[in-house]
Amino acid sequence: MGLIKVTIDRQVLRNNFREIKRLLPPSVSVGAVVKSQAYGHGMVECARVFAQEGARFLVVSLIDEGITLRESGLEEPVLLMGGIWPQEAQDCIRYGLTPVISGLQPLKALSRAATELNQEARVHIKVDTGMGRLGVPMEEWREFLDEALSYPGVVLEGLMSHFSVADSPENSDVAYTMQQMEVFKAIVEEVRKKLPHLKWIHLANSAATLQLPQTHWNLVRPGLGLYGGLRIPQINLQEAMEVSSRILHIKRVPGGRFLSYGRAFRTTRETLVAVVPVGYALGYLRSLSNRGEMLVRGERAPVIGRVCMDLTLLDVTHIPQVELGDPVILMGGKGKQRITVFEVAQWMDTITYEVFCILGGSHPGQREYVN
Ligand SMILES: Cc1ncc(COP(=O)(O)O)c(C=O)c1O
Repeated sequence: MGLIKVTIDRQVLRNNFREIKRLLPPSVSVGAVVKSQAYGHGMVECARVFAQEGARFLVVSLIDEGITLRESGLEEPVLLMGGIWPQEAQDCIRYGLTPVISGLQPLKALSRAATELNQEARVHIKVDTGMGRLGVPMEEWREFLDEALSYPGVVLEGLMSHFSVADSPENSDVAYTMQQMEVFKAIVEEVRKKLPHLKWIHLANSAATLQLPQTHWNLVRPGLGLYGGLRIPQINLQEAMEVSSRILHIKRVPGGRFLSYGRAFRTTRETLVAVVPVGYALGYLRSLSNRGEMLVRGERAPVIGRVCMDLTLLDVTHIPQVELGDPVILMGGKGKQRITVFEVAQWMDTITYEVFCILGGSHPGQREYVN
């Protein structure tokens, strides 16, 4: 009986792309990050929108995502930020995908596959300047680069790194971001002496793209900003995702009754209760119990009691005209009657990235695109 509808407004995606592009000089290209189903918005559809808007790269994590983009007819360069397993080297070249390299094993495999296929393997090398996740350790990049350049068939096309706290306004985090940038800058300067024609140099995620022009080099990699999950003054990014359902059942309950699992809510008065057929199995997490709100007939209705696997209860006493089948907005809406991803993230005690991924990604078959 579970029912969730995820609606994605393509025009909002376009506007967000343009808004980001507006801030960039023509020398800076955009690599649109569409990994993980475009943060729940649908990878292929979003990739089409951003490619039409002029994205120079489509940025994903895994080779399977890259292959899906190719099989869907997208011809833009595709950057695989998660790199590849050595056994994926041949497919990587066949599908014309560009992996980000952090270690020697995939490079060796790519060199071998390039020779076997009589083709080139284009790669970007990632240096870890402080994120501490993927990337060649910054103390080892010189030896790594020398070795990488010795592999036949491998063409080094880009150099990159990634920030860990570019979105934080805390002084110590800002200093850390600047330090990462300075480390990267010094590496870029040295690499350029050796490779003056290195094509792509990139560091910036959304937060850095929008706030730190000195981190742009010639390519930026925004993700969250394209989907409207970031608030930056003077920059008009909107949320493209709306999540809705319908009222499954309505009933009047006297005061003093316990509702839902765990007896976590007790009515204090006669209460009109609406049951919505969405729960944590569809991404409406249990942390929203007694905390979240949904929109019914343009009015906010609080979630009461524990969110269940596929059902959630709302107090709609103040919306007496409510009817079975009425639409319910879990996230989204228009104008003042709107539940933002920022609110949902706060209620869920998480970040907007995760809200988009879990609410948008739980039922991919039911995403609908408008505009
Ligand atoms: C390496 C890398 N670059 C860019 C991005 C995009 O970051 P954001 O969504 O904050 O713009 C990500 C996202 O996780 C990433 O892992």
